[in-house]
Amino acid sequence: MRIKDEIAYRILRRFSPPASWLTRLTPSSAPASSKLAAYFGDHIWPELAGRTVIDFGCGRGADALEIARRGARRVIGVDVRTEALAVAARAAEQAGLADRCTFVTAVNEPADCVLCIDAFEHFADPASILRLWATMLRPGGKAFVSFGPTWLHPLGGHGFSVFPWAHLLFTEDALLRWRSDYCDDGARRFHEVAGGLNGITIRRFEALVRQSPFRLASFEAVPIRAARWLHNRLTREFLTSMVRCELVMERTGSHQPEAQAREAVESLACARGQCFVTRGLMGGTGF
Ligand SMILES: C[S@@+](CC[C@H](N)C(=O)[O-])C[C@H]1O[C@@H](n2cnc3c(N)ncnc32)[C@H](O)[C@@H]1O
Repeated sequence: MRIKDEIAYRILRRFSPPASWLTRLTPSSAPASSKLAAYFGDHIWPELAGRTVIDFGCGRGADALEIARRGARRVIGVDVRTEALAVAARAAEQAGLADRCTFVTAVNEPADCVLCIDAFEHFADPASILRLWATMLRPGGKAFVSFGPTWLHPLGGHGFSVFPWAHLLFTEDALLRWRSDYCDDGARRFHEVAGGLNGITIRRFEALVRQSPFRLASFEAVPIRAARWLHNRLTREFLTSMVRCELVMERTGSHQPEAQAREAVESLACARGQCFVTRGLMGGTGF
């Protein structure tokens, strides 16, 4: 049962908003530290060395820079937030990596790997994103994906989880009204907030992969440490801190014919901001 809008809003006003709602990104913000080795282990580096890697949903580019430092031939950071891309590009210049790292809203060159860290739960249309990746990869290409917490985790609502499962207890209307006291971007739905929030569960992710051009080569639902003894097939939606997996192309010859690619790409255009990525892929002008 959900708490009614007005009452919910009054309760929510008693909570402090998350810092991310109050902090504005500026081109001088420093990128946060890279999470790659912690999430995937050191065996990720040989997978990426000498390759062209797309860091999809790169944010401020900490992982992209780390990949370049560890020997990737070329790294393309993709994001819909141009202010984050500006931070990333500046950091690449300062680190002397600008010749190997670019940060863009659109990609028009094939890659060997897609890497997607802590972003999949933010895509407005995740099914289209999987199809998009398939158009970006060379045959034999792989995607390394990690994301979480997923929607039914106690903190699955990210900033909206002011206490465990608050994002499920309060209505979306009340939560967005509360957020609008601090953020003036006009978002009225979870998927409209900056960076988006798509409410993905583990089950839905698995279904999306089954319907996509990819298959799971490896998959792990990493338990919340304190609750690892309770973690099993029945409880995993509630007690998984992070999903990490490796996706490989289901069919060989990953580059889809242009018409198919266009279909994948156009279905993205409805989602706010995502058209930046998609138009560029089809050779458009980005904005
Ligand atoms: C939580 S941040 C993670 C950033 C970075 N990967 C990291 O781990 O620090 C999620 C990122 O996904 C980006 N994002 C959301 N929707 C996107 C889309 N359709 N295409 C590309 N990036 C997107 C957001 O702008 C945001 O920078």
